[in-house]
Amino acid sequence: MQWTAAIQWPIEMRGKKILFGVCGSIAAFKAAGWVHTLTKEGAQVQVLMTSAAARFVTPLTFTALSGSPAQSEMFAGDMAHIALSAATDIILIAPATAQTIARLAQGLADDLLAAAVLSSPAPVVICPAMNSRMLDHPATQRNLRILREFGYTVVEPECGRLACGEEGAGRLAEWDTVREVLLSLLTTQDLAKQQVLITAGPTREPLDPARFLSNRSSGKMGYALARTAKRRGATVTLISGPVALEPPPGVQVVRVETGLEMAEAVSQYAPTASIVVKAAAVADFRPAAFSVEKIKKTTTEPLLELTPNPDILAELGRTRRASQVLIGFAAESSKHEAEGKRKLLAKNADMIVVNDILGQDTGFDVDTNQVTLITQDSIEQLDLLSKEETADRIWNKALSLLDSKRRQYGIEQI
Ligand code: CTP
Repeated sequence: MQWTAAIQWPIEMRGKKILFGVCGSIAAFKAAGWVHTLTKEGAQVQVLMTSAAARFVTPLTFTALSGSPAQSEMFAGDMAHIALSAATDIILIAPATAQTIARLAQGLADDLLAAAVLSSPAPVVICPAMNSRMLDHPATQRNLRILREFGYTVVEPECGRLACGEEGAGRLAEWDTVREVLLSLLTTQDLAKQQVLITAGPTREPLDPARFLSNRSSGKMGYALARTAKRRGATVTLISGPVALEPPPGVQVVRVETGLEMAEAVSQYAPTASIVVKAAAVADFRPAAFSVEKIKKTTTEPLLELTPNPDILAELGRTRRASQVLIGFAAESSKHEAEGKRKLLAKNADMIVVNDILGQDTGFDVDTNQVTLITQDSIEQLDLLSKEETADRIWNKALSLLDSKRRQYGIEQI
């Protein structure tokens, strides 16, 4: 299989020009890692440093990581701030100190970074990092309010142990959160105003206090759907079985364990959703009885009695509004297309995403997938893609299904 690293990086980042402002904070060392990652993901990063930043990390480090000379000199003689800011898709300032936040709030242009921000029409993302008392001070809070009024995005700092040894708010936000903010700003918000519900992961059906029945679902496809929907502006609820994944930033996660719990949660959240995607691998059966005591070894052959779990997708197909888009998955090892079509009809879904669980790089617990999208009037086989790119294609199709429903039934207020 030809799996190049470039495929797994979001297309939104590739070739984007990012002006990366670094200020004088101990968190500047984290910025070096971020510059490295952004460059690796295909962005063109130009680092601008305040003079204080250069006391924490040398410009040479940022030059080497970004492949472009880190700059801080305002009077280089070539109107650097105008040239830099004109050709920029996004400005990221991380770490942003109280000092630089105050200068930006006042509209000062007293160094290259401040002048570039002032002269650029690009979206600005501010990631504050400082001592919690400096952050809480009314002056800093007022300055941050002003920056928000300018339309800048402020990524809230996190709570935890600070470099000064104190505990509190003021730690630089996590990269995953900041990366999603950047990607949202670089992505068309075509799912804005959509309320989407996604289920992901396996379910666990307990047998006794030590054992359960489950399956090999990792939840990666469902989590990729949640992450990309949020990136495209949707309000996302993710009902998740037990998985070892970090929840995507900004997504409401409802954790469940069993198929019955998942059915209950879905019935609670589905009515307000405009799009429902059932990516979870719900166990079809559960043990007929739960043993409170651990089941002991016996000399006779044990018999395990099972009882069916509710089919959540089929139940949604029976009860949903006609204007709601309902998407299911079908994990198949043979007769993929025929099984997909059968499930589309049997469960009254608008689309079934069929994936081959036996295929190389398309089964459980991998970052890639190759799926076929089956609707009532189309069959589309996608290439082998990252799960995030696969998710984006599913959302494209979901939007066109939603659009045709809206033309058919009119726009409905939920
Ligand atoms: N599904 C569900 N509730 C179940 C079983 C499945 O909601 N109890 C949903 C899955 O989330 C998926 C779709 O139904 O969106 C198809 O799941 P799949 O396991 O492929 O099909 P099954 O209906 O279970 O049929 P089979 O296992 O016989 O292929």
